[in-house]
Amino acid sequence: MEPIIETRDLTRRFGKLTAVDTLNISVQPGEIFGLVGPDGAGKTTTLRLLCGLIDPTSGSAHVAGFDVSKQSQSLKDQIGYMAQRFGLYSDLTVDENMTFYADLFGIVGEERERLKAQLMHMTRMEPFGARQAGRLSGGMKQKLALMCTLLHKPRILFLDEPTNGVDPVSRRDFWTILYQLLKEGITIFMATAYLDEAERCNRVGLMHKGKLIRCATPEALKQEAGQDTLEGVFIQTIRQLEGLAAFGAEHSRPGGTA
Ligand SMILES: Nc1ncnc2c1ncn2[C@@H]1O[C@H](COP(=O)(O)OP(=O)(O)OP(=O)(O)O)[C@@H](O)[C@H]1O
Ligand SMILES: [Mg+2]
Repeated sequence: MEPIIETRDLTRRFGKLTAVDTLNISVQPGEIFGLVGPDGAGKTTTLRLLCGLIDPTSGSAHVAGFDVSKQSQSLKDQIGYMAQRFGLYSDLTVDENMTFYADLFGIVGEERERLKAQLMHMTRMEPFGARQAGRLSGGMKQKLALMCTLLHKPRILFLDEPTNGVDPVSRRDFWTILYQLLKEGITIFMATAYLDEAERCNRVGLMHKGKLIRCATPEALKQEAGQDTLEGVFIQTIRQLEGLAAFGAEHSRPGGTA
């Protein structure tokens, strides 16, 4: 099968900083792919590149067959992007927020109402349609953001730490929705800070300082590192990398022994 997301040496620099460094990732249709890494690893920048929101400095990426830098307009219809701080209008109700996002995508009339009802049902948000977004719990806010992202029926969903700060029960609810979407054939590419969530992904990419350090199924990652959990793999890998960096600095010091 042709990959639905494929990057070739994808690189993005901000001045002297390389936020994403020669990234090579390929995701199959229907997969759920999890990107993990410490703060500042380059996860958000990767998502923004894949959604065509910023241009690569070098290298390329194709999503749903479109070149993300040259065909970002055509790409927009195929993807949904739930940003790390998704823009909900706190004074508008749940229903009004959805109407606003439907308008942005040119979804109107009966079609709009049908889609809204379907999403409210799927996320079990029906009782809260008239509540102002600012008065929702953290978990419900994230569900609303997800609904707004799904209104135009994207084939690929990009989620940036969608359950950050959400309680465990609401996180489980959120995952029930993600599984439902996967069953419908949607591909999901997510950045997550939770390793138990990464464990639920088909494949996991571990990013550090812009580079993809490891990329495999959770099982393969654990086996390779001789660890029982992904958390163990993560900590071991980061320690090794940072240990090596400290070692390098030591040995390149003027007057050092190396
Ligand atoms: N627009 C920008 N201008 C300058 N530097 C940027 C910009 N966007 C990101 N960076 C830098 O690029 C690096 C990667 O940032 P990014 O937001 O992609 O990391 P992240 O893995 O999503 O981190 P977090 O877990 O904190 O969300 C960071 O050092 C960040 O400061
Ligand atoms: Mg981020």
